[in-house]
Amino acid sequence: MSGEVLGTITLRVQRYRPDADEAPHLVDYEVPWGQDTSVLDALTWVKDHLDPTLAFRWSCRMAICGSCGFVLNGTPRLGCEHFVRDYAPGPLVVEPLANLAVERDLVVDLEPFLASLERARPWLVPDPEDPPGEAGNRQTPEQMLAYHDYAMCIDCLLCYAACPQVALVPDFLGPAAITAAVRYDKDSRDHGSDGRLPALDREDGLWACTFVGACSTACPKGVDPAAAIQQAKAATAAAWAAEFLLPRRGGRP
Ligand code: FES
Repeated sequence: MSGEVLGTITLRVQRYRPDADEAPHLVDYEVPWGQDTSVLDALTWVKDHLDPTLAFRWSCRMAICGSCGFVLNGTPRLGCEHFVRDYAPGPLVVEPLANLAVERDLVVDLEPFLASLERARPWLVPDPEDPPGEAGNRQTPEQMLAYHDYAMCIDCLLCYAACPQVALVPDFLGPAAITAAVRYDKDSRDHGSDGRLPALDREDGLWACTFVGACSTACPKGVDPAAAIQQAKAATAAAWAAEFLLPRRGGRP
């Protein structure tokens, strides 16, 4: 810990090893803090000085990699982006992200989310009739802006921890995976919308969202997944209506 120590705080951390513990339980650690001590720094201090068995994820320490999501005093947040000084004198309760199975202590199982991402097909599908060639696909600034904000997602899963529907609807695709699909649907270079629709237009896809908006409140990057989901609902409903009102593809009446 660098800099002047301004005090100590009780970090009340959830510990849990599913293969050894009957249930999750909270353990208190007294941690010194200074002006620039992040919650991630404080957890690292616990691991270095008090208990090397404490498990948590981190990587970049700069709110980019999305690894260090925890629930801090009941709110999903990035540990590297929030500072102990804002929780002093404590106690500060640190729990794993809600709505995800715990692998150990503060480490959650990412496999269901990775499966959701795969279902959402968030990758660029080029026009099969007009592949980009060596020059690539150029975009205007306006075309880039259409999806720019949705591309800011860092897959931290704070939105999954905040979303009540993730807890209620089995296999709900969830805010980040849907937003990733919408990000590519809005990309002028992409022709993959039809391939994404089967995963989106389902009870456990778009239609599970009740627009509570907790996902957007929790997002540390201002991505606004709730807006993405509502836009996708409108686009899906419009396409559905067009099927009835317009002549079908292939010239059928
Ligand atoms: S360590 Fe990368 S987002 Fe916190």
